[in-house]
Amino acid sequence: MTVTVIVGTQWGDEGKGKITDLLARDMDMVVRYQGGNNAGHTVVIKDKTFKLHLTPSGIFYSNVLCVIGNGVVIDPRVLLEEIQTLQSSGYSVNNLRISSQAHVIFPYHRDLDSAQEQKHEAGRIGTTSRGIGPCYVDKFNRRGIRIWDFSNEKVLRQKLEWNLKEKSFILNNFYEMKVEYNLEEILNEYLGYYHAVRNLVVEESSTLINEAISKNKKILMEGAQGTMLDVDHGTYPYVTSSSPVAGGACIGAGFGPQEVDEVIGVVKAYVTRVGGGPFPTEIEGGVGDTLREKGGEYGATTGRPRRCGWFDGVVLRHASKVNGLTQLAITKIDVLDSFEKIDICTAYEYDGKIIKDFPTDISRLEKCKPVYEEMPGWRESLSKITDYQHLPVNAKKYIDKLAELSEAKVSLISVGAERGQIIKL
Ligand code: IMP
Repeated sequence: MTVTVIVGTQWGDEGKGKITDLLARDMDMVVRYQGGNNAGHTVVIKDKTFKLHLTPSGIFYSNVLCVIGNGVVIDPRVLLEEIQTLQSSGYSVNNLRISSQAHVIFPYHRDLDSAQEQKHEAGRIGTTSRGIGPCYVDKFNRRGIRIWDFSNEKVLRQKLEWNLKEKSFILNNFYEMKVEYNLEEILNEYLGYYHAVRNLVVEESSTLINEAISKNKKILMEGAQGTMLDVDHGTYPYVTSSSPVAGGACIGAGFGPQEVDEVIGVVKAYVTRVGGGPFPTEIEGGVGDTLREKGGEYGATTGRPRRCGWFDGVVLRHASKVNGLTQLAITKIDVLDSFEKIDICTAYEYDGKIIKDFPTDISRLEKCKPVYEEMPGWRESLSKITDYQHLPVNAKKYIDKLAELSEAKVSLISVGAERGQIIKL
């Protein structure tokens, strides 16, 4: 086995951090391949909770090389803070590597993100305001600044000066904000960040990853966000600006698709979403509130309350298709412990017809009504169960249903936040 990809199958926040941390123990390398500090991967070790925004969730194992791949956008201030938090908790980051091709988030990216969100006529996405979208726009518009550019101050100065002129013009004139950027201040601040992490930067991260592949090392690709936030396959335009799907791993880390052995879809036992956009099984109040409180469904990055609802099998089927899922890791099933009855959406009703394929066009999606199948709850705590055989019958039936909807086998079931609260199949 060489490459395993972990992807979120919903709108993010499925519990990928815990699953990555669990699998990382047996890996040689963990790579983040897209997104930035819009992500918040939670790892609970004993009584300590870590929320990782940029660092791969394998960082707690000193023998696992952790790579921030070329497809990630990096806010260096956030990265440094994260490194300092890890170090002050006794974890070294000597096993961290940063791709020189990764793009850098500057203050004007954050300002543009906020300005766009405030301009209501363009439609609010409900972004994390971390500057992720505008940074990817610069990347694809070939105006971005990469870590590599910091090794040549003259080039960096030129690129930054041009960007500051362009962005302050747009912000002041179109968005009617009052911004003034000081080239020297920003340059010095960012050079300071670069010097603090310079020894972790690798010139050719794809070479590093491909060498590991050719040596048959075990590599885990850690996706951020989720399939339904994918810029192509999600609920556009209410998506993020990168490709969280499994295919994104090849681009964001730099290796060929034939190297992928397993694609593990992380599936929360119910569904949540943060930010705007359609969410067919959302329940406002009642069950939705219960799920939020029992599941602690508040954003790891922004603290925003998450929208909650029953499990959506149409979404899972879509995720299974666009990612080529081979395994499922089910998380937070213990949150459903107290329900007498649990609904699972198995299809949508659209225009008087039953459909099973997810419509990615939101004008169609907004007209879809979930078709539910009611399942009996198990009404007992799963949080201490570590053996599949000891699960109550109704919990097994629920798990079987998820496997049936995705046509992938279930390999992990998480029954609590702690590392040890896991059932392996
Ligand atoms: P952006 O990625 O900050 O541009 O935000 C775009 C959309 O993706 C918004 O609805 C965010 O709430 C959502 N989003 C981005 N990152 C995450 C994540 O890690 N978990 C859940 N939602 C996210």
